[in-house]
Amino acid sequence: MSQEIKDRFKQFVVPTYGRFPITLDRGKAAYVWDTDGKRYLDLGGGIAVNCLGHAHPEISQSLAGQSAKLMHCTNFYHFDGQARLAENLAKRLGPGRVFFGNSGAEASEVMFKLARRLGQVNDRLEIITAENSFHGRTMAGISASGQAKVKEGFAPLLQGFVHVPYNDIDAVRSAISPATVAVMIEGIQGEGGVHPATAQYLLGLRQLCDEHNLLLLWDGVQCGHFRTGSFQSFQTILGDQIGDFLPDAVGMAKALGGGFPMSAVWISEQHAEVLGPGTHGSTFGGNPMACAVANKILEVIDRDNLAANARELGHFLIDELSTLREKYPAAIREVRGLGMMIGIEMGDGFGSFDDSKPAAVQWVSALHETGVLTIPTGSSVVRFLPPLNLTKEEAQAGLDLFEQTVQKVIE
Ligand SMILES: Cc1ncc(COP(=O)(O)O)c(C=O)c1O
Repeated sequence: MSQEIKDRFKQFVVPTYGRFPITLDRGKAAYVWDTDGKRYLDLGGGIAVNCLGHAHPEISQSLAGQSAKLMHCTNFYHFDGQARLAENLAKRLGPGRVFFGNSGAEASEVMFKLARRLGQVNDRLEIITAENSFHGRTMAGISASGQAKVKEGFAPLLQGFVHVPYNDIDAVRSAISPATVAVMIEGIQGEGGVHPATAQYLLGLRQLCDEHNLLLLWDGVQCGHFRTGSFQSFQTILGDQIGDFLPDAVGMAKALGGGFPMSAVWISEQHAEVLGPGTHGSTFGGNPMACAVANKILEVIDRDNLAANARELGHFLIDELSTLREKYPAAIREVRGLGMMIGIEMGDGFGSFDDSKPAAVQWVSALHETGVLTIPTGSSVVRFLPPLNLTKEEAQAGLDLFEQTVQKVIE
């Protein structure tokens, strides 16, 4: 069965992804099963998407219920679910309005178009982004991303993006020119290897943007939606220092739909009409099923206090992984992250490793054998992006399986 599926992939699916040789069949909460019946603890959460785990009964019910009522509604009309979701998201940020799309790249696109449209009046088009950042795979997304590997072979790129080192406020200051209209960052660089922004950097960025009349665009696609223990990671990073800090726009996707494809961009009231009628759109954006699911996810997260769970279990995982780092320094080089967004910098050069593959991929494969799903990034980072409703027992089981894998690899 699993071989047949893999063969069909090989023959019929465009090979843009390096897929692992796992064929998944079903999931329940934090676990998934492959077509051979093997069970895995899913600490990768579909790259920060499955925020309530797999097959959450309330999510399945809201999806099924909505699909039997109104599956699609063109954005030429109004419906209750989208209005409620927009209000719910805006209330968690500040006065402003929301545009809905279908993917993280589309959320980025809205922010680029917001900046371009605003800059038209005085010939400003440059957006400063960070080195190592990732903002999606559209032409604008790869142009904005600060990683050479995503741009290779796609020249000419969209003009107007300037990349500067992350967490370096002086670099941003020096890059500002009369053509600059916005600065865009991730609160924690995810694809770049799990690097959180510092509070000082965020406060400095807000001040610089205010001084130079620039938009501060926040990519919360991976690090948002309570992953760090607050709705958006700037709330976690700034804590008591938050004051009236707010970006001018916040991009959301991934966990927003918990597996149903959707994205949203909150735009502050001051700029909410820059994208007026006819300037942007999406056939499926804010679809009734997506909104039903997203509204239910927010209800469950609030009701079950999952922000606190992400904070507490995040601390627990990071503390325990740091203890493992002391025990196995050659295998575990560094543990970084906030809440349930954790990056583990792994060692290389072990006997069973194949030199032609990045260490990150080999560690993730070794973890598959032990029965855990995690997400590789860069050459040597293994990411934990588990569901926000992970239990302490599941977190402990994940740590035990992780330690067993380390022991197997280094022996
Ligand atoms: C920070 C960030 N922005 C944008 C994206 C693009 O999202 P999508 O793959 O849904 O287009 C990603 C995806 O990993 C991301 O991590």
